[in-house]
Amino acid sequence: MAINPSLLFALLLTLNLGMTTGAYSYSCGVPATEADDRDRIQFALNLEFLEAEFFLYGALGKGLDYIAPWLAEGGPPPIGAKKANLDEVTNQIIEEFGYQEVGHLRAIIAEIGGFPRPLLDLSPQKFATIFNEAVGYELEPPFDPYLNSINYLLASYVIPYVGLVGYVGTIPNLTKYTSRRLVAGLLGVESGQDAVLRTLLYERAHEKVLPYNKTVAEFTIYISELRNRLGMCGIKDEGLIVPLELGAENRTESNILSADANSLSYARTPPEILRIVYGTGSEYKPGGFFPHGGNGRIAREFLPEP
Ligand SMILES: *[C@@H]1O[C@H](CO)[C@@H](O)[C@H](O)[C@H]1NC(C)=O
Ligand SMILES: *[C@@H]1O[C@H](CO)[C@@H](O)[C@H](O)[C@H]1NC(C)=O
Ligand SMILES: *[C@@H]1O[C@H](CO)[C@@H](O)[C@H](O)[C@H]1NC(C)=O
Repeated sequence: MAINPSLLFALLLTLNLGMTTGAYSYSCGVPATEADDRDRIQFALNLEFLEAEFFLYGALGKGLDYIAPWLAEGGPPPIGAKKANLDEVTNQIIEEFGYQEVGHLRAIIAEIGGFPRPLLDLSPQKFATIFNEAVGYELEPPFDPYLNSINYLLASYVIPYVGLVGYVGTIPNLTKYTSRRLVAGLLGVESGQDAVLRTLLYERAHEKVLPYNKTVAEFTIYISELRNRLGMCGIKDEGLIVPLELGAENRTESNILSADANSLSYARTPPEILRIVYGTGSEYKPGGFFPHGGNGRIAREFLPEP
């Protein structure tokens, strides 16, 4: 069949337009332009900065500007982060996690180069807002992540998991051996951190988080549901106690690790992650932990030029 050249041109134009507008209308989300390995790995720096600051401050009362200031590349200091009132064991665990994040930042920056630390809001008020949104009403008194170990662990439950699912999403799209090697190493430790946090929380799953009339498990379920709502991509985040159909092999209500029907980790795309960490449900609208948005090509592409 002969194709009319002007029809072909029109068709190509439509396809091309479709691709351009498609970048703004996906549901689960892909980067708006072709991202390379460097862009994809640098995207993760946003989350590594967040984790490094939250853990270092929580355990030591000091952040990256004290431990390894050059890694921040001149980015502004975080807002509202402080030492948490932790028991000895929790403090030791969080201190180790904090230093691990420093290693992750150094490894990424050494291998592919970094960017200035984005502005991070780790204030008690920010967490209080997130927790209010999770439970669906205003908690009284406002939730304070730095108040005690259980609150801090619940606040941390919000954090490495998002990095983990991001790495699971990124690895298949990396082209170079060195990139996959780096991200596999990052994924291993992020998932280890998530497992430790969830186990510590699971041990206290049925305790009330005082003074609220809600258990630890209930809080994890509310937080996971909030992340699923913000991510807008179905269930990819599960609390510590689940209906049997979400448990391992449909046989457990305990859900110490969050995973799919084959017990494989869920994966998230950068837009889904931005929707969650911005707390806005939109990769175009910064907020939450990143009042000015993330840095790097992938995150900046969704934001208007400054
Ligand atoms: C990763 O690659 C797959 C297969 O080519 C593609 O469908 C998907 O959109 C890519 N994801 C991202 C986040 O680029
Ligand atoms: C606490 O919650 C339980 C069940 O969720 C409910 O039965 C009980 O009435 C609540 N107590 C208060 C003081 O609100
Ligand atoms: C678990 O239940 C779901 C439906 O809820 C089903 O699709 C899946 O195959 C079941 N898995 C096993 C291992 O039975």
